[in-house]
Amino acid sequence: MKEWDFFNEIIKAKGMWLTDSNGNNLLDGVASMWCNVWGHSKPELVNAIIKQSKKLQHTSLFNLTNEPAEKLAENLVKISPGMHRVFYSDNGSSAMEIAFKIALQYWNNTGVKEKTKIVALENGYHGDTFGAMAVGYIPKFFDKFKKQLFSTIQIPVPNKYRIPKGYTYLDYQNFCIEKIENQFSNDDKIAAFVMESGAQVAGGVIIFPKGFQRKISKICKKYNVLLVLDEIATGFGRLGSMIQYTEQNSIPDIVAYGKMMTGGYLTMGATLTTKKIYDSFLGEFNDSKHLFHGHTFTGNPLSAAVSNENLKLYQKNNLIKKIQKTSKVFEEYFDKITEIEIVGDVRQKGMLMGIELVKDKKTKVPIYSKKSLNKIFFEEGKKHGIYLRTLGNIVMLVPPLAISEEELDLLLSRTVKTIKSVQT
Ligand SMILES: Cc1ncc(COP(=O)(O)O)c(C=O)c1O
Repeated sequence: MKEWDFFNEIIKAKGMWLTDSNGNNLLDGVASMWCNVWGHSKPELVNAIIKQSKKLQHTSLFNLTNEPAEKLAENLVKISPGMHRVFYSDNGSSAMEIAFKIALQYWNNTGVKEKTKIVALENGYHGDTFGAMAVGYIPKFFDKFKKQLFSTIQIPVPNKYRIPKGYTYLDYQNFCIEKIENQFSNDDKIAAFVMESGAQVAGGVIIFPKGFQRKISKICKKYNVLLVLDEIATGFGRLGSMIQYTEQNSIPDIVAYGKMMTGGYLTMGATLTTKKIYDSFLGEFNDSKHLFHGHTFTGNPLSAAVSNENLKLYQKNNLIKKIQKTSKVFEEYFDKITEIEIVGDVRQKGMLMGIELVKDKKTKVPIYSKKSLNKIFFEEGKKHGIYLRTLGNIVMLVPPLAISEEELDLLLSRTVKTIKSVQT
């Protein structure tokens, strides 16, 4: 905190550009924390909020319902194969907490009371609340709370750039899969396996190898363990498909969405389940099978209205096809980025790129600075007119999904300049 003695105050934003109070324009390379879809001030989304705000701003989903929330639930179920019902919240971490509670309570509701353990992937990230920290445990973020976190079983993940000595990439994938299978076959108390869908994003852009997620989903079925997928950062197009789990051919029991659901304009989370899971929560009142969970802004009509408009725009503009085409611009920069002295690895899928910075390409030792690398890159990026955020030694490029080829090219060329000028 001590390093941050000044903050640029953003006073307006249009398209891919943020404008601060001094009139500086910054290209939004972070999609305003990975959630912006169409750019800023998109008239259709702004109008959806205005229109809804004139009718009903907020009521409650406790005992009541509202039209935008009902419609959104229908829309979400329609685009989520295998899913049947929606439980709303107001951010991604809460959507994951709800997913864990539903998974654990499912076994309780069905009389299998001994299934209480959660297995997850090392290096995963599921949010900053306590349950999310316990399951998505990234030591450098959360080690100060370790003692207070409930225990989970963590399985290693194949990171192509950092495969342990003695393994090929493929061997190590098999090793991780076998670990999961061994764990499941030796322990019948496992309730759920939790993972991000398609890639670990906050963990440093670790893109899952082909078939990895599918294999996990099959093992879950085989051993009667619920598969909980976190699509909060990857759902709705980030990796080039609308819903990652369909591309990965791995239908979960529970899935969570957030970030891009509202186009990045308002706050909302959703946890979807299959019919089997939903039905287990039905019973006589005194059976107490219902989920004791609810937030004040659950099913907020403004958030739901803008989400419905957002989903409509995906179809109208064929956004997923556009992302697949635009994201090819990333590929044109692979060589240019890789040849920079402090770049160890470049990983990209769809509209997501992670650039891993190292002291030395051979030893792969991460670059280190006494000052925050994030601050250093942010300041340097500003000089080049871009808004950048790094996570540890990874420069993250996460632009709004509808960015044009020209603007993506600009973001990449300015990122190259930024990294080079930090290097010198
Ligand atoms: C995969 C994943 N899950 C959960 C979250 C938490 O979402 P929120 O920040 O809305 O609580 C994030 C946020 O970055 C995320 O990337």
